[in-house]
Amino acid sequence: MNYIGSKYRLADFIDQSIRKVVGNDLSNFVFCDLFAGTGAVGRSFKTMVHQVISNDLEYYSYVLLQNYIGNHTRIECKELFDDLNNLAPIQGFIFNQYSENGSENRCYFSESNGKKIDAIRQKIEVWNEEKKIDTTVYFHLLASLVESADKVANTASVYGAYLKKIKSTARKEFVLKPAEFENTGSSHLVYNENANLLIEKIKGDILYLDPPYNAREYGANYHLLNTIARYDEFLPKGKTGLREYGKSNYCKKNLVSNSFEDLISKANFKYIFLSYNNEGLMSPETIKNIMSKYGSYRIFTQKYARFKADKSTNRTFATNETIEYLHVIQKNDIH
Ligand SMILES: C[S@@+](CC[C@H](N)C(=O)[O-])C[C@H]1O[C@@H](n2cnc3c(N)ncnc32)[C@H](O)[C@@H]1O
Repeated sequence: MNYIGSKYRLADFIDQSIRKVVGNDLSNFVFCDLFAGTGAVGRSFKTMVHQVISNDLEYYSYVLLQNYIGNHTRIECKELFDDLNNLAPIQGFIFNQYSENGSENRCYFSESNGKKIDAIRQKIEVWNEEKKIDTTVYFHLLASLVESADKVANTASVYGAYLKKIKSTARKEFVLKPAEFENTGSSHLVYNENANLLIEKIKGDILYLDPPYNAREYGANYHLLNTIARYDEFLPKGKTGLREYGKSNYCKKNLVSNSFEDLISKANFKYIFLSYNNEGLMSPETIKNIMSKYGSYRIFTQKYARFKADKSTNRTFATNETIEYLHVIQKNDIH
C-alpha cells in the first residue's frame, strides 16, 4: 500500500541499524512494532524473532496486522476467493455513499467496483456469523479486501478527497487477491490500542516506534479503509463522506513531546528505536534530550527520496530528499 510514512522502502536501513545495536541473532527476541500501520516493519522481523507484538490505533491497520502478523499458519482457501470474486454485485453502503453513480456520487470507486466491494464485504460477514470461517480466515479475507480495494481507489493517494474523473487504475475490474503472510513456528500478538496505554501492559526486547511525524491524522486520510473494514452504519459527512475518527497526540505540536516522553518512560523494553524525519513536529534535539534521560543514546541517518502525488497524472514521483533518522537508546532501568 502507498501509505503515509510507510517504512517498506526503509526496511534494510532499519534492519541493518537494529542489528548493529543488538547483534545478529534475534531468534529469542520479542520485537514490538507499536505504531505498525501496514505492518511493513513487523513483517520484515516476523521470521527472524521469537515473537512480534504489533499494534495500531486504526481499525483497518488492525485488520492488516491480524492477517500479516497474527496469522502464522498456512490457510487453504482458494475456493473462498473464487466464490467471492464471482459474486453478483450489490448496491450497498459503499456503492451508495462512495461510488460513481451512487446516491451521493462520491467517486472514490467506479460503479462496478463499488458494488463488488459491497457484495464481498457482506458475504465475508455472513460467513463469519454462520461460523463457516474462523477468525484467521476472517481477517485474511478482510485484509485482502482492504488491500485490493485500495488498489482500485480513485484518489491521488489518500482518502481526503476523490478525483473528479475515474482514473485508469480505478477503472480496472476489482479482483480480490490474497494478502499473503509468512508462516512461523511461534505465535504473535496484535492490538488495536492507543500506544501510551498499551505500553503499560507489554514487555519485550526491542521496541520499534514509528509514530506520525506531522499533523496529518491517519483516521481522516484513510477513513474509507476503516469504513470497508468495519462496515458499520453511520451518516457520512460532507463532500468527502468523512466518518468520526480518533485523533492522535502524536499529530499535535503542543502534545507530542509529553506523550513521547510518557511512552519512553513507561517502556519495559531493553532497546528502543524511533523512526522520525527532519520535518517532524519534534526536532532531533528534542528527541535526543528526551531519550537520553532514559538510557545511552545514539542515532543512525539515511537520505530518503520524498514521494508526492502528481494530481495531473495521478502518479507518484520522487522529489527532493528528506533525512530519515533512527534514534536509539539502550534503556537504563527496566522492571
Ligand atoms: C508513520 S505511520 C507507521 C507506518 C508503518 N511503520 C508502516 O511501515 O506502514 C504511524 C502510524 O501510527 C498510528 N498511530 C497514530 N497515533 C497512534 C497512537 N496514539 N497509538 C497507536 N497508533 C497510533 C497511525 O494510525 C499510523 O498507522
